[in-house]
Amino acid sequence: TVMKNISGLKNMEKQLEEVLGVSKVVIVSGDSDQYATVKNEMGLACVKEIERALGADNIIAVTGGSTLAAAAEMMHPLRRTHQDLLFVSARGGLGEKVENQANTICAKMAEKAEGRYHLLHVPDQLSDDSYHSLMEEPSIHRVMQHVHHATIIVHGIGDAKTMAIRRHSGEDFLKRVDTEHAVAEAFGYFFDQTGRVIHKVQTIGLQWEDLFGARSVIAVAGGKSKAEAIQAYFKKGPDSVLITDEGAAQQILKNF
Ligand code: F6P
Repeated sequence: TVMKNISGLKNMEKQLEEVLGVSKVVIVSGDSDQYATVKNEMGLACVKEIERALGADNIIAVTGGSTLAAAAEMMHPLRRTHQDLLFVSARGGLGEKVENQANTICAKMAEKAEGRYHLLHVPDQLSDDSYHSLMEEPSIHRVMQHVHHATIIVHGIGDAKTMAIRRHSGEDFLKRVDTEHAVAEAFGYFFDQTGRVIHKVQTIGLQWEDLFGARSVIAVAGGKSKAEAIQAYFKKGPDSVLITDEGAAQQILKNF
């Protein structure tokens, strides 16, 4: 039955690649909504994909969230001869708990991978004025150059409502999530079912365009509850490697 299960997952991976229009899908067994250990399996798969994507020079931009925190947990030394490994935070504080913030995850990944890191010390939501003055800070400007030139981008995807609440968004925005039918969130962008960006958090960090210039983009998101979000995100999302779980995969294929 183990063999049968594996070939079943391989089959689903192929189907998902077609349905979502991405070149590679990796599905781990189980549903992370039900069992926390499934996140570690996705984390391990993520580390493998990062390893596969490595070249001579590597700038690896990472976002936050509990799934990427699990990937950091599963990280191991990646350094080989002549390989430069620089990890950068793709976003500043996005109102997440410390252990789930991009900076924490970035530093931990770099330490375990035996690479270097640069963190983004900027707060969550920024006013226009602070945004522009912070962008002129040389230290921030330098990190942003790395983010814009990332060779590998690793990010999570969340359900829009869950993320709006988790970031303590105001009533107005929560209403907009409903009226504009936002279903997905990734790196501070909110998407509707057609993959259109309906809102973007004004903060310093990874921008939508950056995803199309990277050598590889790895999205890590699972759980039945994220099926709709994953589907929506990939409507217009960049070609990526998607690492997900059986819970999300089954639901996406059912919706389709
Ligand atoms: O807040 C960072 C972030 O990567 C979001 O962009 C994403 O929606 C979320 O975390 C995913 O979090 P989790 O892995 O905990 O579901």
